[in-house]
Amino acid sequence: MIRVCSVEDVPFGEGRAAVVGGRRVALFHTASGWYALDAVCPHRGGPLEDGIVADRSVICPLHERRFDLATGESFSDCPGVATHRVEVRGADVFVGVRARSGV
Ligand code: FES
Repeated sequence: MIRVCSVEDVPFGEGRAAVVGGRRVALFHTASGWYALDAVCPHRGGPLEDGIVADRSVICPLHERRFDLATGESFSDCPGVATHRVEVRGADVFVGVRARSGV
């Protein structure tokens, strides 16, 4: 697990990008907790960290494909994204990236 930011760095209901272990990860702070996914949308590379967070999912800002924040599964016609472990320890947020694999 690698410390990526402070809790206050990601406003509630938003996402931020971080590079963890050489991989670009989108970190989300939501009503149901914290989530981390690969940040690159598998459709055409959109920045998922800039997506709209709704109902435990994120909607890509480019063409509106939606992904489950907990599983990375896609709700549309493209592959899902890998998810990663997030832990909040006090005021710090840690992410542990999984091995590179699709969903
Ligand atoms: S790049 Fe994400 S939906 Fe097209």
